[in-house]
This record gives sequence, structure tokens and C-alpha cells, in this order.
Amino acid sequence: MQFHKLVTMKNPKKVSRREWFKTGALVAGAMALNPMELWSHSVENAIGNNNAFVFSNSYEGFNEFTPPKFPDLSTLKARLLWNENPYGPSPKAAEAFKNAVVEGNHYSWNSLSKLVAKIAKNEGVNTNQIMMGPGSSDLLEKTAMVYFKNGGNVVCGDPCYMSLIQVAKASGGNWKPVKLTKDFQHDLDAMEAAIDKDTKLVYITNPNNPTATLTDTKKLYDFCERVSEKVPIFIDEAYIELSEGGLKNSMAPLVAKGKNIFVARTFSKIYGMAGLRIGYMLGNETSLDKINEITRGGMGITGPSIAAANASLDDTEFISDCKVKIGKAKKTTYELLKAKNIPYQPSQTNFILFPIPMEGDAFLEKIYEHKVAVRTFKFWDQHWCRVSMGTEEEMKHFATAVDTILV
Ligand SMILES: Cc1ncc(COP(=O)(O)O)c(C=O)c1O
Repeated sequence: MQFHKLVTMKNPKKVSRREWFKTGALVAGAMALNPMELWSHSVENAIGNNNAFVFSNSYEGFNEFTPPKFPDLSTLKARLLWNENPYGPSPKAAEAFKNAVVEGNHYSWNSLSKLVAKIAKNEGVNTNQIMMGPGSSDLLEKTAMVYFKNGGNVVCGDPCYMSLIQVAKASGGNWKPVKLTKDFQHDLDAMEAAIDKDTKLVYITNPNNPTATLTDTKKLYDFCERVSEKVPIFIDEAYIELSEGGLKNSMAPLVAKGKNIFVARTFSKIYGMAGLRIGYMLGNETSLDKINEITRGGMGITGPSIAAANASLDDTEFISDCKVKIGKAKKTTYELLKAKNIPYQPSQTNFILFPIPMEGDAFLEKIYEHKVAVRTFKFWDQHWCRVSMGTEEEMKHFATAVDTILV
């Protein structure tokens, strides 16, 4: 996997836009000379700077989520900030959800166990290797609470999705971020070397958020198979269906083989059900029992969401149609970025990350004026924009905004 003309700036605040684009033209060449230097160094340096190390609004203070700075999300022309699927849920899922509401007087254990049986069949695992939750966040957090209640450390990518890490830290654990390689793959050798006697878990987001990259499947498989003998590995596959090759990149077969590996999946992304809150985690039975002993999986999911998930799994046509539409939006966005000489890397998800020549907040302020919402991040001494793929119309609004802001 190669970067497409990836460029960074040492100090974006001091660089004018014109200079930035001039630099952009030069940097592709410079990258060939010394990419590591250009990439500056670890995000750890940025941690000390309060606003710098923000992978998500929710990460700085986990329970102090700061909503975007516009009055009403419904006034947006393009809602491109949370990696939602603009086409979901599947009409069949919506219908199933509505029909299940009248059963709302009952607990949903029965329908849940039917869904678990279907998932087990699809994944080639036993039903006791599955734990359900209201979204995969719930399962990431429960795992972190249980694994780090007595301290220890979690080895993870830098940058990565921070939900599990934040709860690990809040529960008494430490984190050991290991910088991704220059093409945003997990540096598996360095991650293995970072494991020590206190390591309780290795966490890998694959494809990764916010970089949108997939770590080589064969290398990851071999790593998981070998390293899980020493320490459990958690693979967060929230976007796996959107990757090239889709589920072929999943590490689920290792769970089926009985390895000490967790694989988290969600109905929030390709299935377009972020607001319905349902996800699941595959894992070795003993490890899942350890989590279930303290905090029960499945209890927080509503009956209608279970019904919707069940219907979604059968609607494969809807899923492939969404993947095609999202693919088209990615292509259009690549064209836009290329035309503006903005470097990007091909996305294995439903979002694209690209560097911006100004502070993230300043960029957000400008783009919100166009009623377009995206996310910004800072890592490796660089400010970035992460844009989720919306409808054709939303992407046009995004293009107009970028065209105006980054002239
Ligand atoms: C990598 C990753 N994992 C997990 C989640 C959590 O998703 P949910 O709780 O909606 O299943 C997200 C959401 O954006 C994500 O990006």
C-alpha cells in the first residue's frame, strides 16, 4: 500500500496556503528522499499540548463530549463527521424495526439468541464465542474495564481509535502507542517488541481510524496467531466490510481456531444503523466469560434493533449497493483532492484523511460556514481533516467548501 503523494508540514500555522501548495508540489519529491524525517515524530510529543492530541471530541474528556460548533445538526447540508452510512438502514431493517416495536413489553433474549445463532453461522464460530452489545463501543469499553481494572498496559497503534484506550486509562491502565509505519500500516514488529510483562492486551483497529488504512492481512494473521500465545489481541473491525476484499481481511477465522483473539464488529457503519446501537464481539469462550462475569453483554440492546440487525444480515444486495455508492464518493473525493494538489491516501473505509494547512479548529470554523461538518485531528505534528463519505449531493457541498477554503 502506497501513499498518494502524502505531504506534511513542520508548522502548518506559519505556512500560507500558497506556500503550502508550493510545498505540496515539492514534498512528493522530498518524500522519496527522507520520508521519516518529513513525517516528524511520535504523537507522544503532542500529548502534552492540551488540544493537540485529539482523535475525537470525546477523547479529551471521555464524558464531556463537545458537540460541533453549530446550533443544530439538522441544518447541515453535509453531515460528514461520524463515518455514518448516508443510505442506511436497509429498508428491510427499518421495516423489521417498526414491526418489532409492538413486542416492546418483552425482554428480547429469545430474538437475541436467534440473531447470535445467525452470526455464529456466518462467522464460523460457536454461539458461546459471541458477545453482543449496544454498538461495538460498549464491547470495547467493557473489555477495557475488565482487563485494566488492576492496571497493566495496552499496546496499540499511533494513531488509532481511542475508545478502548480511554477506558483502559480511566480504569487504571497505561497505553503504549506504537507509531504506524510511514504508509499507515501497523508496525507489527515494533508492536511485538513493545509487549512487556505488564501488557494485558494488544489493540489493533483494522482498517484503522482515522487513517483509513488496512494492515496487510497475511502479516496481521501471522502476527495474531503467534503473539496471541503471549497476550490477547483485540482487532476492531468496524470498517472491515468496506475494505477491498471485505470480510476476507477479517481475523475471525482465528477465533474459530480457538486463539485468544477478540474481533469486534458493528452494525453502525456499512449497515447504516449507528443510531440503532448494536454490535458484537467474537472471542475465546474463557475470555468472554471473564468479561460477562462482571458486565453482561446483550442487556442494553433493544428488541427492535435486534430485529433490524437480523433483517440487515439477510439484505446482502443493500450492503453491496452501499459499498458501490461509497466507492463512487471516494473516487470523486480523490479527484477533488488531486485537482487541488492535496495529498491523500486510498481509503479502505468510508472516510478519507488528508492534511490541512491550518489549525483544525480554524478549518472547522470555515467549513461549518458552508454547513458542512467534518472532523479534524492532530498527530505527528500535522493537522488533518477526516471526511466521511456522504451522498452525491453532500459530497458536492464538501467540494464547494474545500474549493473555497483551500484556494
Ligand atoms: C474503529 C471504530 N471502532 C468502533 C466504533 C464504535 O462504533 P459503534 O459503537 O457505533 O459500534 C467506531 C465508531 O466510529 C470506530 O470508528
